[in-house]
Amino acid sequence: MGFTRWFNRTLNRTWGFIEDRTGIPKWPLRPQPAFTFKPSYWTGAFVVNAFLYQVVSGLLLLLYYQPSVNPTYTSCGQPIGQLSASPAAWCSTSYITNSLPMGSILLSTHLYGAYAMIFLMLVHFYRGYYLGVYKAPREFSWMVGTLLLLTTFGMGFTGYLLPYTQISYNATQVGLVLALRLPTFGPILGPFILADGTGQGLLSRMFAAHVLLIPLALGALLYAHISLFEAHGIAPPATSDPLQRRRFTEHEDKKGVPFWPHIFFYMTKWALLYIGLLVGIAALWPWQLPTYVGNTAVAAGVTEPDWYFLWLFKFVDFAGVTPVLAIGITTVLIAFVLFLPFLDRSKRTHPRDRPFFLALGNSLLGFFILMSVWGGLTPGLQIQDSEIAWRLGPIFVVNFLVAWLFYRKYQKSYRARLEARERSLRLDGVYTGAKSAVVPGSVPRSSPPSPVVAKGASSASGSGGSS
Ligand code: HEM
Repeated sequence: MGFTRWFNRTLNRTWGFIEDRTGIPKWPLRPQPAFTFKPSYWTGAFVVNAFLYQVVSGLLLLLYYQPSVNPTYTSCGQPIGQLSASPAAWCSTSYITNSLPMGSILLSTHLYGAYAMIFLMLVHFYRGYYLGVYKAPREFSWMVGTLLLLTTFGMGFTGYLLPYTQISYNATQVGLVLALRLPTFGPILGPFILADGTGQGLLSRMFAAHVLLIPLALGALLYAHISLFEAHGIAPPATSDPLQRRRFTEHEDKKGVPFWPHIFFYMTKWALLYIGLLVGIAALWPWQLPTYVGNTAVAAGVTEPDWYFLWLFKFVDFAGVTPVLAIGITTVLIAFVLFLPFLDRSKRTHPRDRPFFLALGNSLLGFFILMSVWGGLTPGLQIQDSEIAWRLGPIFVVNFLVAWLFYRKYQKSYRARLEARERSLRLDGVYTGAKSAVVPGSVPRSSPPSPVVAKGASSASGSGGSS
């Protein structure tokens, strides 16, 4: 105990000195409320952890990767000194996977790490969506988060081309056809991405974007995202109480769990588990490099993007869906996510009080999963109108129906419980407010809004935990 107190004090003093002289805030040392020590409250931190792994493994890969489409004289399966038919980008990737000690693990973990980062980010996004963390005062955190989402997908898109395999080249071409159809931005972006129209021009631009431009943008957005998080603190558990405070006071913050040893070991545990899993999977199932661009000796395979873009690829297979329409609908979806805090205006955060957004979120989740599986199973296969209707229609109909039925049932039992609570408060002589002043799910208006305490939101309001 003595050591812990001494260590915390020294750490705070040292960083306090640095903060005073440089302005670098001591964010990681900020105590956190006890109720947040469940994985669901740390989803964003898991994404940061995954991002850091990508940066480190990516820098190591940079030592060997050559962003060139020219044939190469380096060893690439051939004896050294013999000209290889394959482009240097593919050849250097082949060298990393086949010849470099631990290279296969390094490259595979970088690829699987990208999948994991995107997956964890989607979990972080959906958690925020369902628990209404985007509501006041966290609207800007959400909007910056949406930009992070797009930037992370940009990292995936640009990285896919770098090994210069035939499959990644074809999928990038399809993606570019879609991206360059973006209204207003498409024609502006075109010359920047395509350069002089050659394979080398495209590879150089994708490389620059992947290793420098997008990581810089991601870093800057992450800084803004975390500054906003520090400004508001962690969102309290979702609740039906419209009067619940959504921010902790500085005083409450100080009573939280300190950085050392709790937060440090909590995060280290998850970080080590993440790296262990990644390395284990990469060792058991190392990534196999597909053939290179222009290899005529191998039959042309299907054009397929990574899993997170499969839904969009399937979408353009639908009869009547042109690239312009596909990109138009994607733009509407992005705008919906970006401006969600201003569309869902109710003060209650619990999903059971937001049946429309609950049903819409479920439907879109079902839609993306089904489309991705469909895209993976039948890439490039044209889909007719009747099949689209019977496969996709039920997802939306069933979700909205179920949400509506639950809402009705829940509201009925909830109102009954509220009335019982009011009655008992009146019998105890605690409740003095008029019945009409009680909003379902709120504390009586005559009493001050319930503070958010370490155990979560006010239990009388029927708050829901978020894990
Ligand atoms: C590269 C992607 C992202 C990273 C690295 C990231 C990181 C973080 C971190 C570290 C936090 C602090 C709380 C926590 O650990 O959960 C956080 C909170 C938050 N993030 Fe993200 N985030 C990302 C993407 C997103 C996206 C896509 C959205 C939504 C569109 C979003 C919305 C939010 C919101 C609203 C909060 C505040 C939540 C709360 O207070 O409980 N983030 N993020």
